[in-house]
Amino acid sequence: MNPLDRLNRPLRDLRISVTDRCNFRCVYCMPKEVFGKDFQFLDRKALLTFEEIERLARIFRDLGVEKLRITGGEPLVRRNLETLIGKLAAIDDLDLTLTTNGSLLVQKAARLREAGLKRITVSLDSLDDTVFRAMNDADFPVQRVLDGIEAAAAAGLSPVKVNMVVKRGVNEHSIVPMARYFRDRGHILRFIEYMDVGASNGWRMDDVVTAAEIVQRIDRELPLEPVDPNYRGEVAQRWRYRDGCGEIGIIASVTQAFCRDCTRARLSAEGQIYTCLFATAGHDLRGMLRSGASNAEIKDFVRGVWTARADRYSEIRSAHTVRNRKVEMSYIGG
Ligand SMILES: C[S@@+](CC[C@H](N)C(=O)[O-])C[C@H]1O[C@@H](n2cnc3c(N)ncnc32)[C@H](O)[C@@H]1O
Ligand code: SF4
Repeated sequence: MNPLDRLNRPLRDLRISVTDRCNFRCVYCMPKEVFGKDFQFLDRKALLTFEEIERLARIFRDLGVEKLRITGGEPLVRRNLETLIGKLAAIDDLDLTLTTNGSLLVQKAARLREAGLKRITVSLDSLDDTVFRAMNDADFPVQRVLDGIEAAAAAGLSPVKVNMVVKRGVNEHSIVPMARYFRDRGHILRFIEYMDVGASNGWRMDDVVTAAEIVQRIDRELPLEPVDPNYRGEVAQRWRYRDGCGEIGIIASVTQAFCRDCTRARLSAEGQIYTCLFATAGHDLRGMLRSGASNAEIKDFVRGVWTARADRYSEIRSAHTVRNRKVEMSYIGG
């Protein structure tokens, strides 16, 4: 029997972070003041090996996981990632995808596709080069990411989804230009409300541009209508252009929390399992892997973690920032 948690939610999705490192310093995720030269990233030996990740992925599949997302940090900075993709793509009945900042896609898209990846999500917060360079804080030009998105589409990674985090006073003017640009190219754009993940981005509710406002801004210029969700637990609310030219998604994790349908677990790069993006502590699987535990023992342990789960942080967060020390998004995987 596949486990249900204390709120009757099954375990359906697993996000696997393959590294806590990144070549960007997005201001809302890895601000330079915190993730500077002296920041201690995980040691290479601490990272799960590709074999360990594959073994865990198979165990999670046996517990009911249907969808696997590779993330980070920036997953494409992990060396030979294609080898891992090949191993995971060979697992039956798993929908495999990956989230990337797109900076290395021009070089890597075709190899990822050949290894068995079918689709991809690219994060991009603005088409305005000055705004984008300021947001990634690594002076990375927007054109290289746009080229990466086209390389992904050309390699057959489809659909390409594009994620845009909207932060008040920083990139809300990019909402409509982004909508127009990706609508014209047939890629699905998804807007994400800026979230209070981690403890370092200094989040305040005032910085959030709400889903309602995002829809309103687009609808004024490109009329929209709502679309029913594809399945229970789909995180993005769907809207389509009334003229039939495609759709967008909105991930309203702050203003319309979707905890009651959350079927996701997260595996950090060093093998800690988390049952919520806002968790303060994980459960160690690497120790079990490296001390000779059997698959059945690991499976039982994960089952126990899942059945004890009662997380619904986003539904009960207060509008004022906040309390316990949470784990960083770049560590746990977005
Ligand atoms: C942590 S990143 C990891 C994968 C990859 N480096 C990337 O940027 O796509 C995953 C996603 O989380 C989003 N993200 C990071 N910090 C966020 C925050 N504070 N609020 C909302 N989304 C955030 C990013 O924009 C990205 O789409
Ligand atoms: S959002 Fe992605 S690209 Fe940006 S700093 Fe975080 S991990 Fe890196």
